[in-house]
Amino acid sequence: MKRIAVVASGRGSNFQAVIDAIRNGKVPAECVALITDNPKAYALERAKMSGIPCRIIDYATFPSREVYERALLATMQDVNADLFVLAGYMRILGASIVKAFPGKMINIHPALLPAFTGLHAQRQAFQYGVKVSGCTVHFVDESLDGGPIILQQCVPVLETDDEDALAERILMHEHECLPEAIRLFCEDRLVIEGRKVRVL
Ligand code: GAR
Repeated sequence: MKRIAVVASGRGSNFQAVIDAIRNGKVPAECVALITDNPKAYALERAKMSGIPCRIIDYATFPSREVYERALLATMQDVNADLFVLAGYMRILGASIVKAFPGKMINIHPALLPAFTGLHAQRQAFQYGVKVSGCTVHFVDESLDGGPIILQQCVPVLETDDEDALAERILMHEHECLPEAIRLFCEDRLVIEGRKVRVL
């Protein structure tokens, strides 16, 4: 059974989807930790309700980004997971952390990459006027939301949408995509070949 750890900064609805998928047997993994940079993250409540150990690395208490990242790296190494899942982690991970876990870190992004990287991807898509958006699960490399893509799902943009309605529709698909990608990883079915991920 693979050990996974989730890294989240906020609400944690994707984290909850992962917890639920593990609980109902869809994902053969043990969630060994929730790691957060935000002591107020609702994800912490979700972890407590499910008996998952929490590690809080409070960004605000560190004198610099470098020192924060050293603490985060040390925590991640200590947690000793087979896979780190970024589920609404709202900071860019430094190169030292990315390099420490090659092929062992995935991220969920609320747009069809490579479009609309970075923060507020749903707002970017809505304002751009695309007719289709969606979500992407990808391996994390040193680029911004640019690592090899594992899974994507399309979501239509409706005439009646505002940004929140679009974000909510995308979120429903995130909750399917993220556990599915973790399942494939845990079943050793993902092979990274350059930019491409082959699903066995
Ligand atoms: C999700 O929509 C996730 O895709 C996005 O933040 C939200 C977190 O929601 N992540 C990013 O934008 C990463 N740059 P959640 O805390 O309810 O899972």
